[in-house]
Amino acid sequence: MGPLFLLSFVSATLASPQAHQYLNRRQNIPAALPEGWSSQGCYTDEPGARTLTGASYSSGDAMTVESCISFCSDANFPLAGVEFSRECFCGYAVQSPGAPTGLSECSYACTGDSAQSCGGAGRLNLFASGASAPSVPQTVAEDWDYQGCYTDSVSDRTLSHSHHVDGGITIESCVAFCSTNGFSFAGLEFGDECFCGNSIGASTKKSDSECAMVCSGNLAEFCGGRDRLTLYSTGDAEEPPEEPPTPTCISTNVARFNPLAVFKTPPPAGPLSRPIGMINVNTVPHVSYGLLSSAGSGGWLYYALQNGAIYPKTTIPFPAPVSFSVVPGYSPIFVSTQIPPPAYSGFCSMANPSGGPPLLAANLRPDLWSLCSNTTAGGRNDLVYSPQANHPHYNLATCLAVNIHMVPA
Ligand SMILES: *[C@@H]1O[C@H](CO)[C@@H](O)[C@H](O)[C@H]1NC(C)=O
Repeated sequence: MGPLFLLSFVSATLASPQAHQYLNRRQNIPAALPEGWSSQGCYTDEPGARTLTGASYSSGDAMTVESCISFCSDANFPLAGVEFSRECFCGYAVQSPGAPTGLSECSYACTGDSAQSCGGAGRLNLFASGASAPSVPQTVAEDWDYQGCYTDSVSDRTLSHSHHVDGGITIESCVAFCSTNGFSFAGLEFGDECFCGNSIGASTKKSDSECAMVCSGNLAEFCGGRDRLTLYSTGDAEEPPEEPPTPTCISTNVARFNPLAVFKTPPPAGPLSRPIGMINVNTVPHVSYGLLSSAGSGGWLYYALQNGAIYPKTTIPFPAPVSFSVVPGYSPIFVSTQIPPPAYSGFCSMANPSGGPPLLAANLRPDLWSLCSNTTAGGRNDLVYSPQANHPHYNLATCLAVNIHMVPA
């Protein structure tokens, strides 16, 4: 009890500005700053609307102006700021409502050197490297124009087609790829992702400051942000984007196939695709229920699509499972029983825009599948149709969008 009490007393003391041990001493800006960096004075900062929105860290005993500048400089930020004795922030530009204020308001000593100033409460000592901030070219490849910073989400991609570039992405390489492949929109996201498409769906425009991650292949450009696309379109796309052509079924009968889940954006360290198959999850007397999961690739010889219903096939004929329901937010359900209920018959094969095996669609949608880690089944990756937020079986943020290829078997 004793040490625990002491610990919470110490942290409460440190967290309280009134008890700040470095308050109101006279401190200085170091005379010699790292090469190229200069002091920009004292700036206001607000916890809810940061003046510098890049990387940050805090140190209770080793913060100095030099260590903060070196942290920001290593990450290629042109601005660094120290605050509240212990905090370091990096950024590409001073964000509103941050503004210069009197130098006397930046009077807290740094935790790593009490002779230096490290801002104050809501006050930053700001430093600049002199390098210009990354930017976005307004026009690339002659007729592709910057449209702004647009929303995206993993479960419902704004642009349908994802393109991976080895060795890092640039705005130019992404636009060139989308252009060559006949798309009219190109978008860059999260510093390292390139997407192409022909419409932007329900995506909405946000402030440019939300697209402030540098491109992995060019540190002088911005390539979107988390769930934010730095969006370009060709001259042809300037009129309101056309509705994508309604996808049409090729067939509701495919004699033999195996479903393969192909990630739209493969996980960094993972495979590009995962075989999926039906697994039994629940058996009550005379009825057994199954679903499609990446844990279920074995066990079946192949799958048959017959009049829009899916039948997993084995050498044992009876009782054969059949697709039973496809409900948004859930895995497709199968049932096997002596006298089966009416099958779910809304599956069909559709053309694969990237040229591979046909895509499996349900309810005419080939584009709503995700693999989600099922928290009630030990993290098993189940196939989910149109994953939903606040679901009892998975966290939407862990779902990875996939296409289901119907690989001939
Ligand atoms: C998760 O697993 C449980 C238990 O196997 C199953 O009942 C449920 O349908 C699964 N959820 C989804 C969304 O696949």
